[in-house]
Amino acid sequence: MKRLAASYLPPITLAFRSGTPMHQQLSEWFRRAIVDGQLQPGQRLPSSRSLADELKISRVPVMSAYEQLYAEGYLETFVGAGTCVARSIPGRTPKPSGTGPFDVTLPSIENHAPRRISRRAGLIQVPPQTWLNNLGAFRIGVPALDQFPASVWSKLVNRHSRKLPIELMAYGDPMGYLPLRVAIAEYLSTVRAVRCDASQILVTTGSQQALQMCAHVLLDANDRAWVEEPGYPGARHALVRAGVRLVPVPVDQEGMDVAQGIRRGRGARVVYITPSHQFPLGVTMSAARRMQLLNWATRNGAWIIEDDYDSEYRSGGRPIASLQGLDIGERVIYVGTFSKVMFPALRLGYMVVPKDLLPVFFDARDAADTFSSTLYQMVMTDFIREGHFARHIKRMRTLYMERRTALMEAIHKQLRDKLEVIGTEAGMHLVALLPPGIDDVAVSIKAASKGVSARPLSPCYVNPPARGGLILGYGGADVAEILDGVRKLKQCI
Ligand SMILES: Cc1ncc(COP(=O)(O)O)c(C=O)c1O
Repeated sequence: MKRLAASYLPPITLAFRSGTPMHQQLSEWFRRAIVDGQLQPGQRLPSSRSLADELKISRVPVMSAYEQLYAEGYLETFVGAGTCVARSIPGRTPKPSGTGPFDVTLPSIENHAPRRISRRAGLIQVPPQTWLNNLGAFRIGVPALDQFPASVWSKLVNRHSRKLPIELMAYGDPMGYLPLRVAIAEYLSTVRAVRCDASQILVTTGSQQALQMCAHVLLDANDRAWVEEPGYPGARHALVRAGVRLVPVPVDQEGMDVAQGIRRGRGARVVYITPSHQFPLGVTMSAARRMQLLNWATRNGAWIIEDDYDSEYRSGGRPIASLQGLDIGERVIYVGTFSKVMFPALRLGYMVVPKDLLPVFFDARDAADTFSSTLYQMVMTDFIREGHFARHIKRMRTLYMERRTALMEAIHKQLRDKLEVIGTEAGMHLVALLPPGIDDVAVSIKAASKGVSARPLSPCYVNPPARGGLILGYGGADVAEILDGVRKLKQCI
């Protein structure tokens, strides 16, 4: 078995005034840590000298505890490697050792108290998603990672990490690094017609965190929220985990059917929506529906969460302005992410928060994870300021159009009798509807076994749909992978 590197020990508390001798306290502590799995087989322990120094005790009790544990088989020694936890540990029932805080006797399994968790935590059980095992064709939400200007990025990382000012190594502002907030506000006002200034920008760890904070700040348990049907499962999960009741509102060619929402979801407090590029169907919400939704929200005191996750990549027609830009009642909380235009592992996103909600969102972010990595916020700021961001988006827009065309043509050539393609105007994915009666999850599982990641459409619905489909991402796959992927898909349907 692999021997683990010397590592930190969990804190050892010694009772100096207890009647239990020091060496016994130590050996009991180690036995318990080994039996509980806090110390792993093969893990190196500190030398008796350094442990004694750390605990500010004499070396004698440490040596005698180590000897005792060695004799009992809990420890072993190696020339050159010192003392390690034995790689074959005796059974999980160490010798009873008396009573008190250092008693290491394990309770029998019948005596265990119930291991209770919250009801919320059990509200969603996501079944295994084998289609997430692969990265190439047609994994959704993943951009062309090999096309990312990694050398520019690493130069900027180097620039900042080499001379990180002391004050920026301390705790940062929960709202985010101010120069980045300024850059985001400029970008959103210019490109997405969002009405905002830097004070309203809250930098997040991606959109998912923004959705979670919205659920937390805007809703109480059992409140109702409209979600698109079909819609983004990540948003549904964030809402359900907050104890919110979902009102699925159908999506048609004009986006969310607001009239249906009003009929089915009276009293709803929140609407979650992807108006620029509906996830997953890809439609754009019409101007009439946008006005209808904003009017309804303003009159009824509801909040709208606008998730604008990938609208940078629109191929035909003029860019679609954000819903937030039309909102004079300040009902919209705008959510965006760098996951699609940069890379998902960056974990940076942003929200535009109405001014009166700033204090509550500040507190929510502070309580969640305090703030995002300042270093990466600084690097991101320069990436935008120095023009790399705009250049990268422009290059990717052309690339994704080529990839989308290749995918559509390949489907047309090989699968046009089986797949009906929709949602091809923007973004990095399209939807291929399957013939009625075909189980999309089964197709996706089969495709995953061939190394193809085709996400099924039906899990995006709250209620089972009449027709299944596949959501096919083309951003992260080159043309050869796309063609190969379509060939493999053909074998699965
Ligand atoms: C509609 C939608 N919203 C949000 C996200 C999540 O983005 P992030 O990585 O910023 O959490 C995704 C990711 O695929 C998405 O498809």
